[in-house]
Amino acid sequence: MKLAVAAAFGALFDRAAVAALNDLEVDLSEIHVGQQILINANGIPVLIWRRPDDAIRRAKAILAGLRHPETDEVRIVRPEWLVVIPICPHERVIIQPNSVGGATFCCPYCASRFDESGRILQGPAERNLSLPVYTFAGRSTLLLQIPVVERAHVP
Ligand code: FES
Repeated sequence: MKLAVAAAFGALFDRAAVAALNDLEVDLSEIHVGQQILINANGIPVLIWRRPDDAIRRAKAILAGLRHPETDEVRIVRPEWLVVIPICPHERVIIQPNSVGGATFCCPYCASRFDESGRILQGPAERNLSLPVYTFAGRSTLLLQIPVVERAHVP
């Protein structure tokens, strides 16, 4: 389990430094359809979007020529919820929620654009937005599994 989490967070963590996992509970009940929020999960930004039906349809449509091909199904646990780490893979800038609830995410630094599943569409980034490890508890609780990083002790 620890290895899977470390891999999911990619270069964010030195695997050796991951000491334990914390479940961080997020209440989704107040998030309306179309709303996006950005939370700080123990220092890790996590963007959550309650996707409307048209966004789900677009994300599921086969998109020819994806730079980093992944289906929406492998990136999503429940179709209604996109949960991603909004750190641009190009220069690691944090992408803010789309305030107009639009379909795509745009990096504010050099304008890489990501689709309704967080997949790279255009711009200098080469990879899709990373995914945190999470599950759902009931209808409206998200459990984010966040690594706890221990600082090295230098005597
Ligand atoms: S940092 Fe996002 S496109 Fe360059």
